[in-house]
Parts: sequence; structure tokens; C-alpha cells
Amino acid sequence: MSFHIVSAAKPRLNRSELAVPGSRPELFEKAARSAADVIFLDLEDAVAPDDKEQARKNIIEALNDIDWTGKVMSVRINGLDTHYMYRDVVDVMEQAGDKLDLIMIPKAGTAADIYAVDMMVTQIEDAKGFKNRIGFEMIIETALGMQNVHEIAAASPRNESLHFGVADYAASTKAWTTNIGGPNARYGVLTDADGDKPRDFHWGDMWHYAISRMVVAARANGLRPVDGPFGDFSDPDGYGAQADRAGVLGCEGKWAIHPSQIALANEIYSPGKAEIDKARRIIRAMKEATQKGQGAVALDGRLIDIASIKQAEVMIQKARQIKALDKAPAAKPKATKAKARRRTKAK
Ligand code: COA
Ligand code: MG
Repeated sequence: MSFHIVSAAKPRLNRSELAVPGSRPELFEKAARSAADVIFLDLEDAVAPDDKEQARKNIIEALNDIDWTGKVMSVRINGLDTHYMYRDVVDVMEQAGDKLDLIMIPKAGTAADIYAVDMMVTQIEDAKGFKNRIGFEMIIETALGMQNVHEIAAASPRNESLHFGVADYAASTKAWTTNIGGPNARYGVLTDADGDKPRDFHWGDMWHYAISRMVVAARANGLRPVDGPFGDFSDPDGYGAQADRAGVLGCEGKWAIHPSQIALANEIYSPGKAEIDKARRIIRAMKEATQKGQGAVALDGRLIDIASIKQAEVMIQKARQIKALDKAPAAKPKATKAKARRRTKAK
């Protein structure tokens, strides 16, 4: 091991992260009742410029009044290049900062971007005397952000996760894309010519490098890597394939831009029973090996060593988190103040 110890960010389940536009308050209670692990209420690109101020008010009211029990709550602020951003941070933090877990910083480009938000959030937390400490999730979605991804990941002790924002990343790098987060049929390889035999075309994953690079930066700094959106919400198989491949590369979850994608993400990013059983057997086998003074042993005809234990422990920890979530009381939508208020208004 290196002398440099990587400390892990606060452990949270981040299998599914539901995007909810701040300008559509009618979706808020449906989001609260959903099975999403994390919810981000959006002030950025899902909200039109004329709706930004109202969306901010909606989000503040919703954070205070809706019962979000069991949800990790985040707000996506506007970019640091807009004049909306400072008020997003000041108003949301001052008026609902004690109800919030995370702030999502879009189009993070440099470490100084994170520093600037950290400075504002720290002052507001101190001034208001909040007990909770807001974490940051950064979207890597520009060429600049990807260039500086390691510095961004290390920029603040508040940092918890990196997210791959595929649509803006494609725009920034001028990549040829056809849909949000899907593959492009033109990205592939043709097998060599062999006489008259037909040649095969194998599709590749055009996002492989970007996601892998983000995963490395995240893990080297103890953060969660999370895959971003898949726009075609009527294609669950396409979503599942993209979620699977991001998981294989090390991501802990994926965004859901529609409620139908939540269950898919939760299932794909939860360890299965067979995996959990195997993890338990690995830990048992290694314990016995350690007692006998052995460093590496065989299980089911395969080598297991200290690294296998670490992987197994991560798996067991995640299984415990999921079990705890199942036991936690669900949000009670009927009791929410916002609903009661709307009912009163309607009378
Ligand atoms: N959160 C909570 N509930 C949602 C939702 C969301 N993001 N998106 C849709 N729903 C609800 C709908 O209100 C509807 O509820 P109902 O059955 O009670 O009527 C149900 O889920 C089915 O929705 P549907 O009619 O299929 O979708 P829609 O046409 O209302 O909305 C989108 C489709 C894509 C516009 C919408 O899902 C959306 O705004 N998603 C978020 C987009 C976003 O934030 N993008 C930025 C990040 S990339
Ligand atoms: Mg974006």
C-alpha cells in the first residue's frame, strides 16, 4: 500500500439518482414516494431561464415541507458562469440548508470552482449554525472538467461523488452522438478481410475512456463514481446495458431521468444473493487461512487473497445498507405540509 491513505467519503447508497426539475413541483411528492436512493432537485438545465426564480422557491418550500424520509437530498445549482448560481447557493442554503444532504455542481471545470462553492457553503453553514455538513457531487461533463478531473476530485473534503454528464460532455468534446447516453453505431471495428468471408462489425462503447477516467479520479480520492443519464426512457434494455457496463467499470449507480429507470438501477447496482453468499464464504475462508498463517488460499478452485477480502467486505457493507433501507420507514406523503397547503389553497 501507498503511505498516502485514501479516506472514503461518507458511505451512502447511490444506486439510483432521480432528476426532478425544480419547475415541476407536481413531481416532488411522486419523487419522495419513489424508490430512488438519491434525488436531485434541479435548478440548472431542466429549468428554463424564465422559471429559475420560481423553481428556486419551489425547491426551498419542498425541502422544508415534504417528508423526504429515507432519501438523500441534493439540489443541482446553476453553473458558476451564470448569475443564477450565487443566489441558488445563498437562498437554498440559508432557507433550507439544514434539510439538504448534497449540492450538485454542474460542469465542474477546475478545482477552483469547487473551492468557490465550498467557501460560500462554509460561510452560510457557520452563519446559520447548521449542524449538518453539506457534501458535494460534481458533474464531469466538459473537456475542461475531464482534463482536471483529478484536481476536482481532490478539491474539497465535502466531495462525495463524481457523475458522468454524457450529453454536455458530447457537446463539449464535439463527439458524434445520436441520443443521450447511448452508443453510436458508427463507433466500432471491422474484422480483417479474409478472402470472400463476410467481415463482422463490432460495436464499441464510445464512453469507455471518459467513464474509466472519471472512475479512477473518484476512487483515488475516496469518492463514488456515478453514471449519468440515459435519455430514451422507453428503452429499458438499452438503459440496463448502459448501467451494467458502467457498473462493470466501477460506477456505484446511475441517474434516472424518469421513474421507470429507478427500479432498473436499484436492481443492477445491488449485489445479488449469490454474490453476497460468496463474499461471506471468502471472508470465512480468509479468516481460517489467517489463523493458519497463510496469505493466499484457494476457494472453488480460484485464488483468493487480501484483495478478495476487501472486495467482499465492500459487498457485505452495501448489502447491509440496502437491508437497512428496506427496514427504514418510508416517506408518508399524506402527512406532508405542502400537500395540506395546496389542499387549503384549493378550497
Ligand atoms: N420525478 C418524479 N415523477 C416523475 C418524473 C420525475 N422526474 N418524471 C415523470 N414523473 C411522473 C409523471 O408525473 C407521471 O406521473 P402520473 O403517473 O402520476 O401521471 C409518471 O411519472 C409517468 O411520467 P410520464 O407521463 O411517462 O412522463 P412525463 O411526460 O410527465 O415526463 C420527462 C417525461 C422526461 C419530461 C420527465 O420524466 C422529466 O422531466 N424528467 C427529468 C428530466 C431532467 O431533470 N433532466 C435533467 C437531467 S438530464
Ligand atoms: Mg449537463
